[in-house]
Amino acid sequence: MNSAEIRQRFLKFFEERGHVVIPSASLVPEGDSSVLFTTAGMQQFKPYYIGKANAQKDFGSLNTVSIQKCVRTSDIEEVGDESHLTFFEMLGNFSFGGYWKKEAIEWAYEFITKDLGLQIDFVSVFGGEAEVPEDKESREIWKSIDPNITVKKFGRADNFWGPTGEEGPCGPTTEIYVNGIEIWNIVFNEFYQSRDKTLKLLEVKGVDTGMGLERLVKVIQKTPTVFETDLFESIMKAAGSRIVADHVRTSCFIITDGVVPSNTDRGYILRRLLRRAYIKNKNVNLVVDAVIINPSYNGLYIFAPNIKEVVTQELEKFEKALNAGLKQVEKGADPFVLFTSYGLPLEIIEEVTTIDKEKFMKQIKEHKQLSTERGSQKFKK
Ligand code: GLY
Repeated sequence: MNSAEIRQRFLKFFEERGHVVIPSASLVPEGDSSVLFTTAGMQQFKPYYIGKANAQKDFGSLNTVSIQKCVRTSDIEEVGDESHLTFFEMLGNFSFGGYWKKEAIEWAYEFITKDLGLQIDFVSVFGGEAEVPEDKESREIWKSIDPNITVKKFGRADNFWGPTGEEGPCGPTTEIYVNGIEIWNIVFNEFYQSRDKTLKLLEVKGVDTGMGLERLVKVIQKTPTVFETDLFESIMKAAGSRIVADHVRTSCFIITDGVVPSNTDRGYILRRLLRRAYIKNKNVNLVVDAVIINPSYNGLYIFAPNIKEVVTQELEKFEKALNAGLKQVEKGADPFVLFTSYGLPLEIIEEVTTIDKEKFMKQIKEHKQLSTERGSQKFKK
């Protein structure tokens, strides 16, 4: 089964069960300044969980289904292992005061075991922690579906999800494991977590599920890592390494949603991804082409000229600075000039030269202190 078919099956399954299909929101969250990027399918639906918007009025239903583009950079150091990515697609079904645990669990079981024909290793439920009690109801539902299923109990670190950003809906989860990896996270949004971390019961309970497409495809296509799935086939050929494949694919999607490289926030993340990829493979442009022609991402095609222009401009500038800086270092300059005069971040400098990291970090600290002092002196004058 290829990834396009898996996406279609998921949407159809939930559409047939009363969910309205909603397109992915932009990677740049609208009206939610608490996060840089969209990190979960539920993000565009946050107002519906807290009674600020009415799903029945807006969608004609209390239940929706979507495939959301997501970017998470918290795991960037893990990228390159078998399943971590900075960009992924999240399959999700949602309910805002409609169905609750029984339907959510039964449908998940049916989709995984019947529609996809996968075998569940085990499932997990929330075991209770602090003021939130153990989720006995979910355990009983799993056991009523399959008395032989293994139900593990985990604490808050594993089986409690959210909020995205500083505050928002959150709640205990039940999760499905297949072939040793967690593939589906079913969240029962019962609480609202405020900025001071206190939990308040939501007036209307909601369901929010998230199943990463790339991991699911890996399990279905039985590949050793996500990078051998059809989602990455053409991209890996051009990229040659997992990190390059990941970073360039993510950059293409971020640029498509309007981000340009800069020294702050989203723009800085894009800049870092492109520069890191370039250090490992000078042919980033060929990898961009491979992402755009990948049949899984045919939606990118119309944005191709813009993506290419942004990438080319950024990397030309970077190449010039990098080469000029390296020439200085070759001539005997302290590699620290790469930081002060050429604006290269430590992670890049580490890749292109040999430095004593500890000494370098000390130099950076002193340099920053000095600039702050100079800045305040100027201000005083
Ligand atoms: N919102 C559920 C998840 O991201 O797993």
